[in-house]
Amino acid sequence: STPWLKPMPRRSMPSITTTKSSTGTGLKTKSKKVNDLRLPSQSLFNKTIALLFSKRSTRTRVSAETAAVLLGGRALFLGKEDIQLGVNESVRDSARVLGGMCQGIFARVGDHSEIEELAEHCPVPVLNALSSLWHPTQILADILTLHEHSHLFTSPSPSSTSTSTPPKSLRVRELPPLPPLTITWLGDSSNVLHDILVSLPRMGHKVRVGAPKGRAYECPEEVWRRVVELGCEENIYWTSDPREAVNGADVVVTDTWISMGQEAEKEQRLKDFQGYQVTEALCAEGGAKENWKFLHCLPRKQHEVDDEVFYGPRSLVFPEADNRKWTIMACFDLLFGKWDLEAEAESY
Ligand code: CP
Ligand code: NVA
Repeated sequence: STPWLKPMPRRSMPSITTTKSSTGTGLKTKSKKVNDLRLPSQSLFNKTIALLFSKRSTRTRVSAETAAVLLGGRALFLGKEDIQLGVNESVRDSARVLGGMCQGIFARVGDHSEIEELAEHCPVPVLNALSSLWHPTQILADILTLHEHSHLFTSPSPSSTSTSTPPKSLRVRELPPLPPLTITWLGDSSNVLHDILVSLPRMGHKVRVGAPKGRAYECPEEVWRRVVELGCEENIYWTSDPREAVNGADVVVTDTWISMGQEAEKEQRLKDFQGYQVTEALCAEGGAKENWKFLHCLPRKQHEVDDEVFYGPRSLVFPEADNRKWTIMACFDLLFGKWDLEAEAESY
């Protein structure tokens, strides 16, 4: 092993102390230790995670950067304008070089084959931050959000539609189980849907997809093969009628109708998606459950979902966005934080 690659000693947890004025004068007379603030493991200490992003991002990038800080490490953002990749250097060579300097790669790519190639040639773990086919870190946030809000699905009383904040008692490590739900997707067969298709049916939920007719909106063969391989297809219903799709829905989910890279198809897509906007009226006409909830990975356009739903009490979109950070942090801890530097050195 190479001694200089050995991890440095872990930093000790800081002791958090607050002071409070008991006299109202602003004079700090009392000191109370509140070291109950549990910091996550510092598993990324001395580690750098390359964020190799060839597409825009707000949530995924900021989640990754802030999560790396909380884990004691560093995220190094490498946009497509910053490095040689794709212009002067191949994916294979970039993968080897970045993998020799960083302890993990979180990559947002165009075609899914790019991330496969990265993973094949990179000596450190590679995590998908979105590709043409999959968006695996998004579904983790969605699942966490549904579990955190399970109390909204168990009681169909109207009062349960009035809040999107889970009771304090539920904000604990052990999340309450979810009852079997019907999750409706309105939109095309996007990367975000694909991870729904291969995960939620395995957790006992039913998925109903409402997508316009046409090859561009159908599930790609390689994704469907995976759906079948995992035994998910029995719990998936596909229709081109958005009203039929929302029938019995506990949760309605949508995404942009024009994913990054599809900008040239905008006009056609806007035409084909007429009638797919998520609204109270559509869901009432289609027979969604009385207390249905709404998810969206964001960024959102108004034509996909109106303001009443998006900013209303059914919407879980902002807790969902917040949860990108915690779930990405868990992935970083597990995948990159537990990466053994000595094992990495052995691989050379
Ligand atoms: N949901 C999501 O991936 O958002 P960003 O594109 O902003 O990262
Ligand atoms: N389907 C969208 C998701 C954005 C987070 C896209 O690929 O652009």
